[in-house]
Order: sequence, then structure tokens, then C-alpha cells
Amino acid sequence: MQERIQQLRDQVEALTAQTAQEVEDLRIKYISKKGLISQLFDEFKTVPNEEKRLVGQQLNVLKEAIIAKINALREALSSTKGEAEAIDWTRTAYPVRLGTRHPLTLVQQEITSIFARLGFAIAEGPEVEDDDHVFSLLNFAEDHPARDMQDTFFVRNTPDTLLRTHTSSVQTRAMLGAQPPIRIICPGRVYRNEAISYRAHCFFHQVEALYVDENVSFADLKQVLLYFAQEMFGSETKIRLRPSYFPFTEPSAEMDISCNICGGSGCNFCKHTGWVEILGCGMVDPNVLENCGIDSRKYSGYALGMGVERITNLKYRVSDLRLFSENDVRFLEQFQGAE
Ligand code: DAH
Repeated sequence: MQERIQQLRDQVEALTAQTAQEVEDLRIKYISKKGLISQLFDEFKTVPNEEKRLVGQQLNVLKEAIIAKINALREALSSTKGEAEAIDWTRTAYPVRLGTRHPLTLVQQEITSIFARLGFAIAEGPEVEDDDHVFSLLNFAEDHPARDMQDTFFVRNTPDTLLRTHTSSVQTRAMLGAQPPIRIICPGRVYRNEAISYRAHCFFHQVEALYVDENVSFADLKQVLLYFAQEMFGSETKIRLRPSYFPFTEPSAEMDISCNICGGSGCNFCKHTGWVEILGCGMVDPNVLENCGIDSRKYSGYALGMGVERITNLKYRVSDLRLFSENDVRFLEQFQGAE
């Protein structure tokens, strides 16, 4: 018996444990009710009386040593535990979630890059504007309904500070600031006091183009429109121009493209006409040139403007405008990888 006690003491000295479970296993093996120490105490009854005193002492020393060892192992583990358990070195890495460009940004960039290929430079202007740049210089009559409170957001209730209702305001800034040739493309956000629904919002985005130079004609405008439509919607796309009215262009037109959803054969989207309207355009009204300090006998120009949301709807078939500003990741994620 004394020999076994000695062996166990040597064993106990050498015990190690890497985890809390291993410490627990040692506790069960040595000092639980059915563990080795209990067994030894049972056997102790058979030890001859004259040896009992010595063996009893040795047994107690062994028991204390085991308890101390197990406690020491437990302590050693718990002091490194926080760090060891907080970092799981075997776990696979989280997948990196890539953000996506907003669909309106994608389409706006596509529009501007098509015009950039034709030599148009990007120009920007302020969203908080004044009446001159948004209306007066653009030939809007004093009583034009677009100036009305119903349409325009006025800032601080002064009729002269307002949120621009169209990016045509950047035209006036460009013409006031430079002499022709002027060839600019103006993307930006605009505001109108509309009730929000699936088809209207109080803010949206437009891209405006302006070209002023000597001998600019309607034929130049038509060619640029055709180039744009086919670059944007595919080389099969046809265009048609319908006469229209804008205060700042004369003559004015609206452009339709052959419906890119049904290919022109008629569907719900084009209301079975085979055509969808995508932009307004025209020759810059000589009054506007003069208002902005450009000699209308020497120079002429064309302008065009389109809604980015509309083009995006056509390209990606987004049926509710509100999705563009709700920032729902499930919607935005669908444009991953789109260019
Ligand atoms: N500014 C017009 C609007 O907001 C769009 C527009 C039409 C712009 C004709 C133009 C243009 O430059 O020539 O509805």
C-alpha cells in the first residue's frame, strides 16, 4: 500500500490539464466518491494496526496534494481563460460583405459617361437656388404655374430662395459663367412638392445636357439623342420626337424610345403603344441665351433633360419609386456587380 501511495504522489506531481474538462476528469478520477483516493481509504481498513498511523498520515498527505494540484490546475486555466475562449482560432473567417452602388448612382454614371464620350464635361450647381437661375433666366413667365407653391419648395418662405425643381438651373449658371463653346452634362437632385406615392416623390434626380456653339442645329440634337438611346438601351432602340413645350427651348420636343421591354410590339409598360417617353429637349430659346449674356445671333444651342428614376425603371424594372430612398438592403443588394 505504501508503495502505491508513493507512486500516486509521483503521478500527481506530473499532472497537467489544458481545458476545464480535463481538470474535471482528474477530479473525478482521484477525489470523487468512487475515485482512487476513496478506494485507498477503503483499503486502509485492511492495513495492519501497527502500520495504520504511518499509512494514514501518508494517505492524508496524498489527498491534500491531489486537491492542491487540481485547484492549482483550475486556477491556472481560469487566469488565461478569458483570452483563450474569446478568440476561437479555429473559426472560419466571416465572409466580407461588399457594399453595392445605389441603382440611381449606377444609372446616373452610365448616362454621364455616354455624354462624356461625346465631349460633354460634368457641371454641378447648388440644390438651394434662387428664382433667377431656376425660373426667370430660363424664360418662365412671372405667372408660370411651376413657380407656384404647389410645385416649388421655398426656403424660409422667401419667394427668392428655393429648392431647385430641375437641373436646368445649372444651364444658366454655366452660360452666365462662360462664353461658348459650352458642352456640359449636369447630374443632380431636384425637389418638387408632390405627394409621395409609387410613381412620384418630393425629390428625384435629373441629368441635363447643354451644348451651345456656332451653328448648332436640331439635326445635331437628334443625332446625340439617337446615340444616347442606343448606347443606353441597345443598338436596336429606335427614337421618335414629339412636339412639346418648355419655356426655355424653342422648338421643344419630347423623346420616346421604342419600348425596351416588349421591343415595340406593345405591353403593359408602354400602355400598348410600343413607345415610352424618356426625356424633354429642344433648341435653347434665344431669350435664354440673351438673358445669360450670350449673343443669340452668333450662337445657338440645344438642351435636354431626363429623370434618372425613369431611366432606372426602364433598365431595371423597379415598380415603386419609394424603393430608391428606403435604403432596404434586400433591394439594394440586387444591384451587386451591376455596372
Ligand atoms: N427641365 C425640364 C423638367 O424638369 C426637363 C427638360 C426639358 C430639360 C427640356 C431640358 C429641356 O434641358 O430642353 O421637366
